[in-house]
Amino acid sequence: MTNLPPDPTDPTGTPAWAALSAHLEELADQGVDLRSWFAAEPGRAADLTFQAADLRVDLSKNLVLPQTLAHLTDLAEQIGLAGRIEAMFAGQHINVTEDRAVLHTALRRPPGAARLIVDGQDVGAAVAAELDKFCDFAERVRSGALTGSTGRAFDTVVNIGIGGSDLGPAMAYQALTEYHGPIRARFVSNVDPSDVASTLAELDPETTLFIVASKTFGTLETLTNARLARSWLLELLGARGAITSADDAADAVARHFVAVSTAKDRVAQFGIDPANAFGFWDWVGGRYSVDSAIGTVLAVALGPTVFRDFLSGFAALDAHFRTTPFGRNVPVLMGLINIWYVDFWDAHAHAVLPYSQYLARFPAYLQQLTMESNGKSVRWDGSPVTTSTGEVFWGEPGTNGQHAFYQLLHQGTELVPADFIAFANPQAPLADGGQDVHELLLANFIAQTSALAFGKTAAEVRAEGTAEALVPARVFTGNRPSTSIMAPALTPATLGQLIALYEHITFVQGAVWGIDSFDQWGVELGKVLAGQVTPALAGDESALTRLDASAQAMIKYYLATRRRPSGRSAR
Ligand code: F6P
Repeated sequence: MTNLPPDPTDPTGTPAWAALSAHLEELADQGVDLRSWFAAEPGRAADLTFQAADLRVDLSKNLVLPQTLAHLTDLAEQIGLAGRIEAMFAGQHINVTEDRAVLHTALRRPPGAARLIVDGQDVGAAVAAELDKFCDFAERVRSGALTGSTGRAFDTVVNIGIGGSDLGPAMAYQALTEYHGPIRARFVSNVDPSDVASTLAELDPETTLFIVASKTFGTLETLTNARLARSWLLELLGARGAITSADDAADAVARHFVAVSTAKDRVAQFGIDPANAFGFWDWVGGRYSVDSAIGTVLAVALGPTVFRDFLSGFAALDAHFRTTPFGRNVPVLMGLINIWYVDFWDAHAHAVLPYSQYLARFPAYLQQLTMESNGKSVRWDGSPVTTSTGEVFWGEPGTNGQHAFYQLLHQGTELVPADFIAFANPQAPLADGGQDVHELLLANFIAQTSALAFGKTAAEVRAEGTAEALVPARVFTGNRPSTSIMAPALTPATLGQLIALYEHITFVQGAVWGIDSFDQWGVELGKVLAGQVTPALAGDESALTRLDASAQAMIKYYLATRRRPSGRSAR
């Protein structure tokens, strides 16, 4: 192991942790009441609203007082957050269990940034060269200079990948719907064969380009779907008389398939010419890779200019995170407030509620980012964590969620901190009669945070003439925390800012907990066991007997129930 960070500081042993515990007791004695806090401090909203690049972030509806934030920023100092931030940006091997640097921030460094040499590699030069390479490829696809094997221009690009090789690009493609052009993007991720089948059913092989995106190029789902796509392409082109020889087939694969991976040897084994592969590096985690060549699908479908604007948004947030004092540093404050809820308020879920339909996949994207990063029980030195860690992130766009699960947010027994995200300018400026419809959306965005924070007392319910028996059911306790984020518009740059904001929030929480937020060993066991189950599902008796009783019973039921066309086996 090289270039290692110091052992984690146990946060519970710091003076700040003790101060936070005492502070919580004081708050419990005094009563936590956002109504009275706002009444007592007219400047509260302004004092607790911060700017990070284009994001206006209002923290005032959180269960914090100025002294809470002071204790939390003390905690950040005492666990050495500043050093850890610098260690990341400088390329130290803070991914300890994989002995790797963590340098997704190097993917979006602004032009003219100082040289960054890590492990003997000029990282800035390598990133710039690869970015130019896949942007140039995207430009040639978009201009029609590159065509399919029958000479027709591409009209569809299909990204085949999963996890970090799917969620970021798929989320961003939908978020940037306004920037869609003549080449549409489709995404195949699941090994459920209905995913690839339903996607391919609507496509023309002559005009379809496949990007096989996999950091490791060893992921079962992706390689299976890539082989299925290759068979589909060759079969349909063959049926049209466009393939009559092995050379034609190889030419078709070369023209219709490219790869994005850190493992170019495996790309070649699959049959894709390494010259048609775009690379990145082991210091880019899968869930942190949307701004690497994993974004090639975005560069093709949205254009290199949009992609570079997207990167500029990340860079703006990186600069804010790296240089802003903790007391005004938005990702630091949001990460610390999350610590406050998880470890002091026993809150283990966190809702993310974009008031933008185009951000529908943002919560799913954040689930991988946050939960694969911080869903850990040991620290980076192998010792057990000393606190609760990674909360469950979930959410849906507002207003849809309001008619589904907000009941629990308002009146349930769980405390669920929520992030509300909205944009001042609409994607689709429509009026219903004289009513600007975006204003209806924003009215709900604002009203919900007020309802959560300030609730409705029994006296207020009674004053509405409510029958006494119904009063308890109609009371809203309030004091349910939320953060409100607003940006001028959902643009490539603001999307990059939002993603980077949550990357850094995740980093801050991991740093306090002493977690290696950049490994993901917890996904491995299931993969290995699936490999052992597969032969049993195909009828291998000895494989079946090695499985647990529950698994055996399920497989026997499956084998007895699976219908197959007569005379055909599964294969
Ligand atoms: O299994 C989890 C995981 O390793 C994620 O961390 C990753 O984003 C995803 O699988 C896909 O991996 P790859 O890009 O190597 O195919």
